[in-house]
Amino acid sequence: MADLAEPTEKDNRMDNTIDHNGGHALDVVIMAAGKGTRMKSQRPKVLHRVAGRPMLGHVVATAAALAARCVVVVTGHGAMEVEAALPVLTRAGGTFDLKCVRQEPQLGTGHAVQQAVPALPDDGTVLILSGDVPLIQADTLRDLLPHARDGVALLTVVLDDPTGYGRIVRDAAQGEARVAAIVEHKDASDAQRAITEVYSGIMALSAPLLKRWLGRLSNDNAQREYYLTDIVRFAVADGVPVRAHTLQDPLQVAGVNSPAQLAALERAWQRRQADALMAQGVRLADPARLDLRADPRTGRDASLRCGQDVEIDINCVFEGEVALGDRVRIGANCVVANARIAADAVIHPFTHIDGEQLGVTVGPGALIGPFARLRPGAALGAEVHIGNFVEVKNSTLAAGAKANHLAYLGDATVGERVNYGAGSITANYDGANKHRTVIEADVHVGSNCVLVAPVTLGAGGTVGGGSTITKDTPPGALSVARGKQLSIADWQRPRKAAKP
Ligand code: UD1
Ligand code: MG
Repeated sequence: MADLAEPTEKDNRMDNTIDHNGGHALDVVIMAAGKGTRMKSQRPKVLHRVAGRPMLGHVVATAAALAARCVVVVTGHGAMEVEAALPVLTRAGGTFDLKCVRQEPQLGTGHAVQQAVPALPDDGTVLILSGDVPLIQADTLRDLLPHARDGVALLTVVLDDPTGYGRIVRDAAQGEARVAAIVEHKDASDAQRAITEVYSGIMALSAPLLKRWLGRLSNDNAQREYYLTDIVRFAVADGVPVRAHTLQDPLQVAGVNSPAQLAALERAWQRRQADALMAQGVRLADPARLDLRADPRTGRDASLRCGQDVEIDINCVFEGEVALGDRVRIGANCVVANARIAADAVIHPFTHIDGEQLGVTVGPGALIGPFARLRPGAALGAEVHIGNFVEVKNSTLAAGAKANHLAYLGDATVGERVNYGAGSITANYDGANKHRTVIEADVHVGSNCVLVAPVTLGAGGTVGGGSTITKDTPPGALSVARGKQLSIADWQRPRKAAKP
């Protein structure tokens, strides 16, 4: 089984043994103060989600994967909301010193990094990331960082349509690798606009150099902004090498400015997950109709592990950590979160499984759905059958137990081969406390029964349909608790009174 989680905690561990950074500690600045006008949203742009996780959460997780010493988030628009979201976003892994600095008003990317300066130690390498470029991968940045040892390292990408981006102007006299300047689109000449290599918005350099050059920025340009990109000119003037590391994968540096770009990024990312699953042999009915999402409660990235010959039909959503055993089949339109589904189980269409923190387990060969709901703490044994409109919460069902129609099992312990009739429910909640229901092996519960917990049904017993069971039932007995059937012969129905 392959783990498809983004490289976060695992890579973090690796980083303790491999030095990517020439002995310097890594400090990360994440620019997240911009307005995101084109999102036309009340929500700050960096809190919009990709793969179930706010964009800023992706970037913070990447910083964690790089074993950053300190992460400085520059906030401005929606600062309070962004700052309030950070504790959850940082839960996904890594230990680093997290600081927030405010940029008010927002006078450009150079001005944003100027605000971070007081929070940055003097002895580190500084990596500058954008909160709206969520899919940058730790491995890419590991390749970039060595270029920052004695100069400025720029992450660049070649785009078919470079409109709007800062262009990478090279200095042929200094050799191909040397960059002379970054020229913003709005300030560029026609010849410069023809350059297709653009600055990704990501750079790395030593803290002392950054601090030196930030002090020299001016806003003498087309946008009247303090451009971070102007430090390239200062580096060249001071004889410090500027190197571009060109990335072949534009998705990693794609920024989000509009709902359309957000959706396009989401689909591209999901397609990548789907392709990775198919490469392992998972059969997807349609790779365009699969979604893997982070757990909204923990911020942890999606991890879908699949055994051999797993089949997933269209429109399925997997959240948090999900494991599917060999030959598992997932029907169309299922949502599965934090669950382990054992070999040969079949999840029929429109089933909702959400294990939240407690998890859900489904045993080998079990049949679930259609239209079933498994909630946290549902632990189903081998060959269990859960049918349509059946809800199971915090209950264990032993091998071969069946609840096939319109039923509720909450806080119950259900023995082997129990048959739980249509419309029966456990009354597990008395308005203040929850109580357990124990149904021993081979019990047959008729239709439309209410089992008022705490209560135990003895092994092999039968409960007559329509019973409200408030006392324990003996093993092997038939227990009935309902009004006796009564028939009144020749019953005259009431008649409508005659109109006066
Ligand atoms: C920037 C680069 C450009 C590059 C492009 C890549 C500059 C001057 N230009 O342009 O060369 O090709 O990114 O996407 O850096 N932000 C703040 N405070 C501000 C302004 C921006 O925090 O005052 C943040 C934004 O929220 C965003 C990031 O900085 O996360 C980039 O800002 P944006 O306005 O998108 O810069 P671009 O014009 O795209
Ligand atoms: Mg931008």
